[in-house]
Amino acid sequence: MNWEAFLAPYVQVVEELKVKLKGMRAQFEFESRHSPIEFVTGRVKPVPSILEKIYRRNIPLEKMETDLQDIAGVRVVCQFVDDIYTIIDMLKARNDFEIVEEKDYIAEKKESGYRSYHIIIKYPVETVRGEKLLLAEIQVRTLAMNFWATNEHSLNYKYEGQIPTAVKARLKSAAEAAFQLDEEMSKIKDEVLEAQRIFHKNKNKGGKN
Ligand code: GTP
Ligand code: MG
Repeated sequence: MNWEAFLAPYVQVVEELKVKLKGMRAQFEFESRHSPIEFVTGRVKPVPSILEKIYRRNIPLEKMETDLQDIAGVRVVCQFVDDIYTIIDMLKARNDFEIVEEKDYIAEKKESGYRSYHIIIKYPVETVRGEKLLLAEIQVRTLAMNFWATNEHSLNYKYEGQIPTAVKARLKSAAEAAFQLDEEMSKIKDEVLEAQRIFHKNKNKGGKN
């Protein structure tokens, strides 16, 4: 298996999606509007993770392209929960890819406490052998959801997926706290945005403060 050759178009997809999503953020900034996007990250799944997943799920190598939907993954992180839905609506309105699956783990959080909105897209990428339609996963979440998921992911890694019961319980209450934080911030969203607008204006005046 020539992994480098297999993954090359996925690298291309991740790079293109990052450019496009960061471009959305920049457009909001140019127009001095609140950007529903705080930051964007992306990665191609490392080969050991691919192997671990296809082994765990009994996926034959030749079915990887259809059965592994997150070889290409990008993440959009937002300040507020309703920014997530703004982004999802914008992604649905785009013509450069097709959404093939949606998972709303915000309306229905996972057993672990995980929250995020996922879409799986079919993205046309140009290769030297012509157009190729590749699957990619876009995860959209708030800063609070991201904080929780990042820490939980580290613990999962440390404990190889077998997080001790006591730690799991802590994670569940941390997930609840993250949820409450999002709720509270939503309630003062308008005030926060107003403050950020004022700060932005002053910054653009070029004054010392
Ligand atoms: P995998 O969870 O990757 O095996 O894929 P899946 O087909 O079950 O899809 P799912 O929507 O459950 O998860 C896709 C991705 O979401 C994962 O690869 C993670 O990045 C993220 N994710 C899902 N559940 C959790 C969770 O409980 N904790 C964390 N930290 N991330 C999660
Ligand atoms: Mg899963």
